Amino acid sequence: MRITVDRELTQLDAYAEGAEEIEGILDGSLADDGARIHLATFPDPVLVTDPWRIAQLPAAQRDVVSSFFGLPRRTLEYDAVTMDFDASRHPRVWSPSIDTFLMCKALAPVLDAAAPGASVLEVGCGSGFIALYAMEALRRRGAPASEVHVVDIEPQALQVALGALERAADTTLVTASLGRRGDALRVRGRYDLVLMNPPYIRRPADLVGAAHKDNPWEGVALLRELAEQGRKHLNPGGSLVLVMSSLCDGLARPWFDAGWEVETLATLEVPLKVYAVTSGLTRKSRAWISYLKAVEGLAVHEPPLRGYATWQRLEILRCRPR
Ligand SMILES: C[S@@+](CC[C@H](N)C(=O)[O-])C[C@H]1O[C@@H](n2cnc3c(N)ncnc32)[C@H](O)[C@@H]1O
Repeated sequence: MRITVDRELTQLDAYAEGAEEIEGILDGSLADDGARIHLATFPDPVLVTDPWRIAQLPAAQRDVVSSFFGLPRRTLEYDAVTMDFDASRHPRVWSPSIDTFLMCKALAPVLDAAAPGASVLEVGCGSGFIALYAMEALRRRGAPASEVHVVDIEPQALQVALGALERAADTTLVTASLGRRGDALRVRGRYDLVLMNPPYIRRPADLVGAAHKDNPWEGVALLRELAEQGRKHLNPGGSLVLVMSSLCDGLARPWFDAGWEVETLATLEVPLKVYAVTSGLTRKSRAWISYLKAVEGLAVHEPPLRGYATWQRLEILRCRPR
């Protein structure tokens, strides 16, 4: 399946694509039906896979679209930058999501103003889509990045990110380092742009009975580290651009306000769709929701608001050292 999102994040489209989907799943024919069949349009997306919006579609369309969104393989395209992602091969990698694309949208003007030969670091790269977008956007304006470095604690993430980046690298040097859970960021050197869509769901340390449970969503340790140490990874004049959520900003935003000039580049209200937190099926999820209500004022809507009980406000912040 191909999912396309326009640059302003005003429309998401889903397509069936290629022989396996058109001739296999839909029992059509590439000759009769073409290589791509449009499945659905979602205006103003707030999720990449949005079960509630899918459920609003007419029944026949709903069932097809729902089954295509359940496929492990997808091609994601944002502002003409494309990545193939296979969740069955890389189940531990964060698939490009609405926060990923909001970050790209907010980055566009920053990239437009970057000096030729800028260097880019993406911390917590997951699939590497943000780094890929930065690299492609810089090349499109005739000012390719000198280096793009990605770091993640998940080896599978580096594998996906390096594959995608290296295929598109041209003159840009692509490098990577594997982080260690619970260790300081394993990056040496300085960059013009440091980009980060980190875990941002605040949680009490005692909830999982372990000091560290590093994964794509839990905790704010990386935000704290970048607030305190991020300037040592920046060249003079450089910026740190990151995703901040209302699920942690009561705690984490003051860390940045203390030492950085902070500018908000973009904001979007989106559902919280991390089942580890929202399912209510486990002791941990129930305790976590109660905690977020208490410490970050999380509202739980009953009945649900536009299909979802819990929403968060995402902000893309540009931080420059004071
Ligand atoms: C929300 S995901 C974002 C992935 C990707 N940047 C994107 O926007 O699609 C956060 C990523 O941070 C990584 N991560 C978590 N803790 C980390 C740490 N201490 N050091 C480096 N990466 C970390 C996770 O493995 C995950 O890939």
